[in-house]
Amino acid sequence: MARVFSGIQPTGQLHVGNYLGAIRSWVAMQAEHDCVFSIVDLHAMTVPYDPAELPKRVLATAATLIGCGIDPERSVLYVQSHVREHTELCWILNCITPLGSLQRMTQFKDKAKQHQENVNAGLLNYPILQAADILLYKASLVPVGEDQVQHLELSRDLARRFNYLFGETFPEPQPHLTRAARVMALNDPTRKMSKSIPGSYVALTAPPDEIQSLIRRAVTDTGPRGEAMSPGVANLFTLLESFSAPETVAHFRTAYEQGTLRYVDLKQQLAEDMTKALAPIRERYLELMSRPGELREILAHGAQRARAIARETMEEVRAKTGLVLEASAASTVAPTA
Ligand code: TYM
Repeated sequence: MARVFSGIQPTGQLHVGNYLGAIRSWVAMQAEHDCVFSIVDLHAMTVPYDPAELPKRVLATAATLIGCGIDPERSVLYVQSHVREHTELCWILNCITPLGSLQRMTQFKDKAKQHQENVNAGLLNYPILQAADILLYKASLVPVGEDQVQHLELSRDLARRFNYLFGETFPEPQPHLTRAARVMALNDPTRKMSKSIPGSYVALTAPPDEIQSLIRRAVTDTGPRGEAMSPGVANLFTLLESFSAPETVAHFRTAYEQGTLRYVDLKQQLAEDMTKALAPIRERYLELMSRPGELREILAHGAQRARAIARETMEEVRAKTGLVLEASAASTVAPTA
């Protein structure tokens, strides 16, 4: 059975982009795969953050994921920093990563521009920690949105390089993309929907009136109407395909093709269907958030299960990279003067 690994940052409210690009696949893959899902708090430290808020965000992320259908009995759901082996493997991979491959990363370039006052080494080394996350569990499938594909290329390069230098150890992880692998920002459909851009996203736990008003304000046509569908309208259709019935999508597509589509109708329908689809997630989320002790227990149990796998991998890695003083090896070391 192929091992699946994926992670999500506890940096804000999870949104429909996260859901359609990744979480929806996580939920589906649980049925057939051995899945490990991590709330990656160490990654969230690479940009300025409030230490008092972080634990609350971690719990809210866990509650949202479970609300979406992640089953913490079936899958391993845990917090990255609770398994120390992530940072240990990250260091070892640091030592086989060419600097140039990090400087080329789109996400690094974007975030370095966004946080000019704090371009720290963690931001640059971010994809190495991500590779460590995946390789630690010897995962071969990684369900993510399109924005993570470049990071996964590096994970594969590092697996290959490690195997070449130290012997066959890691499978090369492949991305698993959904049909909606890149959901665009509602208020600027030339950029991706993102937790860090207010107005760009619909939170998975948003109340109905908020969903309504965000969709109503979504940008549709940005310039003169051309041959191709504008990015804003295309994005609304992506959302419609994900949340509405096929007949509804067909109805609006026909209207678009015939030039009779009224965006206000499309938005009204989308807001209604999205509200219906998200209602059970919000309900379960609110219920779980009222019992934080239970959430902490779920995550502690997840960390225990994750640690068991991580420990085994690291024993192998330490032995292969020369970090174990075996009795026979130790006895042949010449004493230093
Ligand atoms: P993060 O927290 O930014 O996003 C979590 C997941 O949601 C996907 N996603 C999107 N998909 C479609 N459209 C969008 N607008 C959109 N925005 C976000 C992301 O692609 C991601 O799959 N680096 C990762 C976290 C991570 C990780 C890992 C992922 C750390 N270690 C190991 C996989 C494996 C990130 O920042 O995701």
